[in-house]
Amino acid sequence: MSRVTIKSIKSNKLKKPIVCLTAYSKFIAQILDKYCDIILVGDSTSMVLYGMKTTRDISLETMIQHAKAVKKSTKKSLVVCDMPYSSYSNKLIALKNAKKIIEKTKCDAVKLEGGKDIANIVKFLTQKGIPVMGHIGLMPQQSKKFIIKGKTNSQKKKILSDAVSISNAGAFAIVIECVVESLAKIITNIIPIPTIGIGASRYCDGQILVTDDILGMSNIQPKFIRKYCNVENIIEKGIKKFCKDVRYKKFPSNKNVYNY
Ligand code: KIV
Repeated sequence: MSRVTIKSIKSNKLKKPIVCLTAYSKFIAQILDKYCDIILVGDSTSMVLYGMKTTRDISLETMIQHAKAVKKSTKKSLVVCDMPYSSYSNKLIALKNAKKIIEKTKCDAVKLEGGKDIANIVKFLTQKGIPVMGHIGLMPQQSKKFIIKGKTNSQKKKILSDAVSISNAGAFAIVIECVVESLAKIITNIIPIPTIGIGASRYCDGQILVTDDILGMSNIQPKFIRKYCNVENIIEKGIKKFCKDVRYKKFPSNKNVYNY
């Protein structure tokens, strides 16, 4: 089984929807690998897994640990690792940390949040042979609030110019988060690389969501999330039953002990 390539992702533009989800661990990564084109080891790990207040709080080392586990557990999907906040504050710091991520995790690419302001960094990384995915619109590393972007003309202009700058800088795809649909449609039609929407648009070239959100393993429910099952209920049922069995001495049974 061969791995999805950057080239094949780029060639899907306007042809075949690109499917992306997040993974932070082996078990989920193994399942996602059967179905997804791209698996993102997002810095959402911070809030989803560790209960941190913001995505800014996760360290490079922690991201590397999770990305290593995910990459090792996959054979087919392209694996992208988020660069955490302040790990790409200038070109040289970004290169040092991106190289560290790629060398230690063997991930296929890194993702950076930012527009025109970081285009020089994206260009530097791609020129040095590091595949980069961009992330524009709502950028959780910079904004604590959940706000839909692109409602005003000035915001529209800025986000469009961010998309063009990141595309020109050599990124192979761009995540567009929480922008009005008409703007995501324009961006998708203008830039030559795939757009991956999260709360952005039906017109993006692909879609990404946080896996825990679609499985019902989180308690945030913005409009752009669709819950496909309720894992919380399933887990609760199992835990409740185990506790009851222990309390009523139904576990362990004869089947669960070693008799000589
Ligand atoms: O960190 C993350 O999970 C992300 C996605 C939500 C796009 O950046």
